[in-house]
Amino acid sequence: MSEHILVIDAGTTSTRAILFGRDGAVAGTAQAEITQHFPQPGRVEHDAQEIWQASLNCARRVLGNRPPESIAAIGITNQRETVVAWDRETLKPLARAIVWQDRRTADVCRRLRDEGREEAVHKETGLLLDPYFSATKMRWMLDNVDAVAQAQEAGRLAFGTVESWLVAKLSGGAHVSDASNASRTLLLPLGEAGFSSDLCDLFGVPHEALPQVVDTHGEIARTDPELFGRAIPICGLVGDQQAATIGQGCLSEGQTKATYGTGAFILANHGTQIPHSEHRLLSTVLTQNDGQRTYAIEGSVFVAGSLIQWLRDSLGLIDSAQETEVLARSVENSGEVVIVPALAGLGAPHWRAEARGLIAGLSFSTGKAHIVRAALESMSCQTYDLATAFAADGARWESLRIDGGMSANDWLAQDIADILNIAVERPRFVETTALGAAVAAATGAGWFADLQGAVEAMRGPIDRFEPEMGEGVRKERLERWAQALANA
Ligand code: G3P
Repeated sequence: MSEHILVIDAGTTSTRAILFGRDGAVAGTAQAEITQHFPQPGRVEHDAQEIWQASLNCARRVLGNRPPESIAAIGITNQRETVVAWDRETLKPLARAIVWQDRRTADVCRRLRDEGREEAVHKETGLLLDPYFSATKMRWMLDNVDAVAQAQEAGRLAFGTVESWLVAKLSGGAHVSDASNASRTLLLPLGEAGFSSDLCDLFGVPHEALPQVVDTHGEIARTDPELFGRAIPICGLVGDQQAATIGQGCLSEGQTKATYGTGAFILANHGTQIPHSEHRLLSTVLTQNDGQRTYAIEGSVFVAGSLIQWLRDSLGLIDSAQETEVLARSVENSGEVVIVPALAGLGAPHWRAEARGLIAGLSFSTGKAHIVRAALESMSCQTYDLATAFAADGARWESLRIDGGMSANDWLAQDIADILNIAVERPRFVETTALGAAVAAATGAGWFADLQGAVEAMRGPIDRFEPEMGEGVRKERLERWAQALANA
């Protein structure tokens, strides 16, 4: 009897395999860090082979001695936009993967914007002309990596995002991408089933190298029986932010979640209508089943947990992320220190690739705790800017569901509620990205009639944080933030 869903969560900094039961209980996890390569300022690369090996090893570790029959289905969720190029015949990577944070194609994006292309692209794909998305990364590989250009000449080039790469390796060659990931490439019109030849021409991407666009849940492929001793169906494929939206149960229009991982990503369910933002937010596919889509409005912030990592690893200010809560509570306020965490430029709603981070308001009374508190406060302020943009687009948040590693910090959860002046809800089980992929795969495998039924069965209890900050303090904080932001 099949008792578990196996989820592979291939994130930016680590890959995990997690086993979920029918009630959402976790029966096992295995994790491996992914090496970050920074060959030049603004460039971020991963070794696609390492992502695959780490995923396979974690899956095998978590399965242990369980019989393969005990796994009903596999769900995959992943860092989005990151581009992998491989040889279709050998299934070997042809270059380092270019990661979503990589800014190397900023000039190409600027040129296309100067040519006046952005409005039409935004209307069609829901995205903006920013190096964050996949298409310009694909073109860069063709222009700069001989092996990629040669594979294209020989008709052997396969491009894909990370879920696409993992399915190719797991299945022994299927070349597919689910609609939620495909909608992050700049090549998929939100209202069309597959990639657009016109958009491929605009960005110089060969259509024939792209995968087939498939559903986010339903049977998508089967694993090569050699890998786990049985051909296990892959029944869920979802980009990690869309997966977290599902895992948070944001399945009705207007329901909104914020995930504080490496970056912070806020998605509001927009039902079956394609959203169009007038305030520099993105529109994206949330789910697809039998070709029918639901959509979300998204605000993407590039730096969240990575700021804490930087305080720890580059500045040596803290030994662990957990310490930030104790330090934030040890002072009454940030002592007027404000951090703008634009270490990789600014994402939504500002989209200023050239902006750089700053620490403002330093004085001799500034201590480590003030700086750490200011780092946490910047998360709430970035979220506030997005709340303003969503409201201007007619998608005001009534409450916000938070998750991701950083959300485990109670001080931060309260600060977000205070600065937004709305209730913040946090599930006890904060790994909602993996849970969302499990929900998708469990539905795709037929355990439940729909995502709603699966979420009801698999989602655990919730904690709530009510706003309690005085209006004067809140106003002052936001004014100081706006001033610092203008200088970034
Ligand atoms: O769009 C990028 C996003 O998918 C990365 O997510 O969780 O790896 O920070 P994460």
